[in-house]
Amino acid sequence: MKKIIITIDGYSSCGKSTLARQLASRLDYVFIDSGAMYRAITLYFLEHKTDIKDEKAISDALDQIRLEFINNGTPGQSDIHLNGDNVEKAIRTLKVSNHVSDIAALEAVRHFAVSQQQAMGEKKGIVMDGRDIGTTVFPKAELKIFMTASIEVRTHRRYDELKAKYPDISLEEVKDNLLKRDLIDSTRKISPLRQAKDAITLDNSKLSMPQQLDIAAGWAEEIL
Ligand code: C5P
Repeated sequence: MKKIIITIDGYSSCGKSTLARQLASRLDYVFIDSGAMYRAITLYFLEHKTDIKDEKAISDALDQIRLEFINNGTPGQSDIHLNGDNVEKAIRTLKVSNHVSDIAALEAVRHFAVSQQQAMGEKKGIVMDGRDIGTTVFPKAELKIFMTASIEVRTHRRYDELKAKYPDISLEEVKDNLLKRDLIDSTRKISPLRQAKDAITLDNSKLSMPQQLDIAAGWAEEIL
């Protein structure tokens, strides 16, 4: 079967990674969560107490960071490893969420991540989700999906994910973080979050997971 590149971009907590993972599994493709890379880079700088406003210090230290996606035992699923350590859980904290968009806006950081993402797509057969995948990382991808959902739906989804770990968290706090990240992501100078001209919109506010998967897989099958 022909192998293509599928990109899924959109605002925070639209369910991009969930759909990307399931679509990759249905097509027997590789799934890459590009946000996990920016989160792991952020974790590195938080752990090393680097001043995240010091762009030169960040840029100089990037060659100390080794990122790998390693299979986690479930076929087609991988966890991100930072310098040999599995950080899949450690990158999902509020602290990382609160700083990641500032780090991801830096030119050196984007260059570092994008070049690795492009190398991962060389053999095609990949579904990658993020913010700039259809515009910057794979502008020639065969299928580009842009996911949207209302801010209320996105806030509740993220709140449900976080409340087990952070029982005191409020809906307001979750919504503020989503809106703040969306604003930084869509107004930054380098590869801001934008819908690629040739991307198809998928508004999943009222769709179940199986419905979204059927729609996206249908689009892929039209090309394959
Ligand atoms: O996808 P996720 O919400 O985990 O991504 C975390 C952050 O990483 C985003 O808010 C954004 O700032 C950054 N990101 C990015 N470009 C991507 C993927 C994520 O700037 N392709």
